[in-house]
Amino acid sequence: MLTIAIANQKGGVGKTTTAVNLAACLAEKRVRTLLIDLDPQANATSAIGLEGLAGQSIYEPLMGGASVIEKVLPTRFEHLFVITADLDLAGAEIEVARLDDHLLRLRHALAPLKNDTSFDFAILDCPPSLGILMTNALAAADELLVPIQCEYFALEGLSKISHVIEQIKSVGANPNLTLAGILMTMFDGRTNLSNQVAEEVRKHFGNTVYTTQIPRTIRLGEAPSFGKPIIEYEPNGIAADAYRAMAKEFLQRHKGG
Ligand SMILES: Nc1ncnc2c1ncn2[C@@H]1O[C@H](COP(=O)(O)OP(=O)(O)OP(=O)(O)O)[C@@H](O)[C@H]1O
Ligand SMILES: [Mg+2]
Repeated sequence: MLTIAIANQKGGVGKTTTAVNLAACLAEKRVRTLLIDLDPQANATSAIGLEGLAGQSIYEPLMGGASVIEKVLPTRFEHLFVITADLDLAGAEIEVARLDDHLLRLRHALAPLKNDTSFDFAILDCPPSLGILMTNALAAADELLVPIQCEYFALEGLSKISHVIEQIKSVGANPNLTLAGILMTMFDGRTNLSNQVAEEVRKHFGNTVYTTQIPRTIRLGEAPSFGKPIIEYEPNGIAADAYRAMAKEFLQRHKGG
């Protein structure tokens, strides 16, 4: 199982949208995928049509109180499994910080799945802000995928993230962490701004940036309120096409497709 953290300390850039839709598109391609909602807001949980039930989150495994395997739930998509978020997770920010090895709690919690053959990929939907949950995700992940909204300050956000990666590495929490992908989201080809930002980011980060850009479309904003990934909500629209293309690129990068 390869663990991918979808992270960006900036709020509202498309982390959850990308986590949910990448996971759904991978599952559609019969790739066994585990979506883990690490955000107490539980947006990823509701975006696939589930409710966060108390006790059914990564909280107990983080605290050392239960095995992660007990928390994995099936979804209505054959190859998609999920660990939902619940309100307990909000407390984890404070409680985990008090424990020994607080940076490595998630890494240790996920260990039983790591060498298991149940899943090909775990996709972690991180909360915004550089709290304990996000840093645990970075310490647990093999790779980081950063969605970037096509707007000013995109590069500034990326340099902050690069700095955090270096910190995680330098304290020895995860020496192998790599910034493996950058995804341009909410791209509006009619505006100069979107085009300029995408060009700038590509100039600095080259092949790390996905060729696929996710267009800004109202459909992606609507789908979560129906509890549906975009491939279910509007299977033949431009947003479904974009996330399918992104998932294909993801698999090519991981030599799976
Ligand atoms: N490509 C897009 N086009 C239009 N709306 C989008 C697009 N991607 C995401 N959205 C909408 O923008 C809002 C923010 O997206 P999302 O929740 O994925 O961001 P996030 O980074 O997870 O936010 P947070 O930091 O709060 O967790 C949501 O309402 C979402 O539906
Ligand atoms: Mg989110």
